[in-house]
Amino acid sequence: MSGDRARVVVTRRLYPFLVEELRAAYALDDNQDDMPLAPADLARRLAPADGALLVAGERIDEALLAACPRLKVVANVAVGYNNLDLAACTRHGVVATNTPDVLNESVADHGFALLLAAARRLGESERWVRAGHWQRWTFDMFPGADLHHRTLGIIGMGRIGRALARRAAGFAMRVVYHNRTRLPEAEEGGATWLAKDELLRQADHVILMVPYSAAAHHLIGAADLALMKPTAVLVNLARGGVVDDAALLQALRERRIAAAGLDVFEGEPALNPGFLQLDNVVLTPHIASSTRATREAMARLAMQNLAEALAGRQPPSLLNPEVWAHRGR
Ligand code: DGY
Repeated sequence: MSGDRARVVVTRRLYPFLVEELRAAYALDDNQDDMPLAPADLARRLAPADGALLVAGERIDEALLAACPRLKVVANVAVGYNNLDLAACTRHGVVATNTPDVLNESVADHGFALLLAAARRLGESERWVRAGHWQRWTFDMFPGADLHHRTLGIIGMGRIGRALARRAAGFAMRVVYHNRTRLPEAEEGGATWLAKDELLRQADHVILMVPYSAAAHHLIGAADLALMKPTAVLVNLARGGVVDDAALLQALRERRIAAAGLDVFEGEPALNPGFLQLDNVVLTPHIASSTRATREAMARLAMQNLAEALAGRQPPSLLNPEVWAHRGR
């Protein structure tokens, strides 16, 4: 390890060629065995570090920052940043960054993959074929729900929400959306703002894409699910905790909504085992942004954020601009 190179921790495995680029630039501590780091291990590894690439949403809070006085930058390899206590980062003069935009289209593709899979019963019918049950074709095999010409409700019309809306246009869907504040008309792209309850009543299918925050905790619970159509599909692309998973499980069991497509879960990866018993839910392991190209783009943006911050320049996706006012510690 050279004395004057910045010390950087990579918390989980990245593509090997990216790790080699990082190793050429920094004194690198990379978590090659890819096991999740307990908070104490993370603090121990970050204590001597100047910067960190946070690959798996590792929590950065006051206690950790107090134990890591050298740290100058934490670069999330994710657009979501509910793992970062931004106020604590700012207090400690630590630059925090995320990876917006580069993943919008891939996440929106996955949203439609989940919506189509749940609406057209892909998982269920595929399992049935694999189990050798297909003896003869019948007229009423696995009747699903249509997307085309139906109403899609998007809760969380940000950059990814708009990418979902563009896809919906290709399916001739009407798009309604809910944000706490209505967008300027020029940014609505033809979508109609509705209050959350009204959206849940009107939409044939609903996709959630809100960032997680205390205010978004259990944004969709039993009372909200009760407003949805019994034929509706709910897709959660956002974060575990935005949906009350126990309430969703109950609604799916009782067929109060038709189906769900879930990429994120409360307490993941330990999802509610009840979901595994149900045929009307499609489950993916938080992979909405996981295409080869998009994951590389996310890592490269995080690497750029890290490099700029370590060089004392403002990184492209700075989350806590106030930190510049506190610099010079
Ligand atoms: C994101 O970018 O926030 C994805 O959910 C991956 O964590």
